[in-house]
Amino acid sequence: MKNNKGRGAVSDGHDTNRYQQPERKLTNNAKILVIYFSRGGNTEQQAQFAQQYLGADLYELVVQHPYPANYSASVNRATQERESRNWPALDIQDFPNLMQYDLILLGHPIWAMTIANPMRSFLEQDGDRLSDKRVASFSTNAGYGSGETQRILSDLLPASTRILENYSIEDVDLDRDRPRFTRWLNQVNLRK
Ligand SMILES: Cc1cc2nc3c(=O)[nH]c(=O)nc-3n(C[C@H](O)[C@H](O)[C@H](O)COP(=O)(O)O)c2cc1C
Repeated sequence: MKNNKGRGAVSDGHDTNRYQQPERKLTNNAKILVIYFSRGGNTEQQAQFAQQYLGADLYELVVQHPYPANYSASVNRATQERESRNWPALDIQDFPNLMQYDLILLGHPIWAMTIANPMRSFLEQDGDRLSDKRVASFSTNAGYGSGETQRILSDLLPASTRILENYSIEDVDLDRDRPRFTRWLNQVNLRK
């Protein structure tokens, strides 16, 4: 089904965190942390799979004011935020101490060919916490790839962060692509 290119999200509007508690799975011994933002649920699906597959911890970023379920209204808001560089305020609670983790996976949708605004807020605000870590991005998109993800990561993260290759998948292909995602998870996990 390719007819929703650009509008993408399979589950658009059903998981905007308007009604749900943010996902948190935090332990004292996991070595990998998955931090993600998902408006429509696609990236969340990937994040949950990664968490289970790797035995990682999980932290969902949520915004103080959730995006509308309506796609066009969300695009309008996201465009305004981007043009004014007024990135959305996050509702950060119970954020873990990152000391215990070697690898941080950042999950996010692609918005306007770049990292979705809430993940951008996180990187601008808390990117320094990722110094000396290995970091890799996984994203979901509606057919146009990961855009400038890799460059934004190197612009916003400290020089001592080791940025690994990113993974991106078109939203309609999530299930079909599981073997490739699994291989990527293995690769970034083993990469020193
Ligand atoms: C505000 C907004 C902008 C988007 N811009 C792009 C884009 O530039 N390129 C693209 O391939 N997909 C774009 N999409 C589609 C999403 O990246 C895609 O549907 C993604 O899987 C949504 O993830 P989520 O369900 O985790 O929120 C955009 C979606 C939204 C809501």
